[in-house]
Amino acid sequence: MKKSQRPIGVFDSGIGGLTVLSALARRMPNEHLIYFGDTAHVPYGSKSKEAVTRFSLAIARFLESKGIKLLVVACNTSSALALRELKSALKIPVLGVIEPGARAAAAATRNGRVAVIGTEATVRSGAYVAALKKKRPGIHAKALACPLFVPLVEEGWWGHRVTSEVAKDYLKPLRGSGIDALILGCTHYPLLKKTISRVVGPKVRLIDSAEQTAVETEELLDEMGLKRRGGPGRREFYASDAPKRFLRIARLLGVKAKSVKLHPFDA
Ligand code: DGL
Repeated sequence: MKKSQRPIGVFDSGIGGLTVLSALARRMPNEHLIYFGDTAHVPYGSKSKEAVTRFSLAIARFLESKGIKLLVVACNTSSALALRELKSALKIPVLGVIEPGARAAAAATRNGRVAVIGTEATVRSGAYVAALKKKRPGIHAKALACPLFVPLVEEGWWGHRVTSEVAKDYLKPLRGSGIDALILGCTHYPLLKKTISRVVGPKVRLIDSAEQTAVETEELLDEMGLKRRGGPGRREFYASDAPKRFLRIARLLGVKAKSVKLHPFDA
């Protein structure tokens, strides 16, 4: 098979990375996409680097066995903790979401004051703050963990008053901080955009790593001459546990998934 005809692999700890898959599909409708949601091991955000790296490598190898031409690590936690290991283990290009998100934020801020919200592990890794400082030296960046956002999104409580209350509490340290850009550094947070924006106010630009990752994936494929021409791309979905639940939530998110295959793994 011609290399350009091969699929792009996308993985996340669960369903959240479907926000990245949707951004890729919108931007490159002709590309075949294979998505893996590690529903057996979610959440990654409260796990160790060793565990997240082990799970990420096992999934990457599975996707590689499906003949992918490029791997997009849709999970922020995995991008923060395991990207280097993934890049050195695979023969294909690997793209995470941290660099694109940091690049978009560094370009968007006018006053050089940026915050990032993510899982505990992403925040602890310091990956976003380091990437922001590299892109724009002198930038003032702070990171906040918002662990309850993930289960609230998974529960479908996107506009729920409880979610608003949790957001008010978590984001309190940002009030009066003078930031003008906020990175949504977790796959699930773009689904809470309205709630988060109401709390931080209209002057703060919300940066969605998913959109910028899709832009950079397309640029990379272009550079390598690997963009697929032809008709609409195929979508294929795998989950390591509870595929029916995955399918239900995927449809709730507006992803047109016909079926989800079960692929359990030990790592
Ligand atoms: N996918 C994870 C991330 O973007 C969030 C969910 C989890 O903790 O696994 O960081």
